[in-house]
Amino acid sequence: MQISGNTQTLYERLGGEAVLRRLVQRFYHHMDSLPETATIRAMHANDLGGAQQKLFMFLSGWTGGPPLYIREYGHPRLRLRHQPFAIDEAARDQWMLCMSHALDEVVEGRALRNELLFALHEVVDFMRNRP
Ligand code: HEM
Repeated sequence: MQISGNTQTLYERLGGEAVLRRLVQRFYHHMDSLPETATIRAMHANDLGGAQQKLFMFLSGWTGGPPLYIREYGHPRLRLRHQPFAIDEAARDQWMLCMSHALDEVVEGRALRNELLFALHEVVDFMRNRP
């Protein structure tokens, strides 16, 4: 019997650049419109375009695709870069709420959505800088 591992990256399984771009677009759409995520919306600039592009670039490399963010800006140092923003449990949950809505809309397959949510949960939790 031959054992064949899944050699595709998360980036490929998600559907590559087009899907990731749509994911971050929906993510910021939700952040911009859900009343319950107003706290984290207020931490961002009026124009969400820059944040959207950077999140797309980061997720591209993080999922195993082209490391666009690192190429442009160097090591992400995400914890350090988020230090100016008060990220407590409520902020973390707001971020995850936007992401889970976006995943539901954009990514096919519950298993894949859950895999991504689980992995992101670790990153988000690591970003917490307030009790
Ligand atoms: C936990 C809740 C989070 C909050 C409240 C938050 C908030 C923010 C804010 C306010 C900015 C600045 C955006 C701007 O330039 O206007 C930012 C930047 C950024 N965030 Fe988050 N973030 C969170 C979690 C995350 C997570 C989980 C990731 C990655 C998976 C992420 C990736 C990024 C990236 C790549 C940038 C751009 C950094 C730069 O080069 O300046 N963030 N975030």
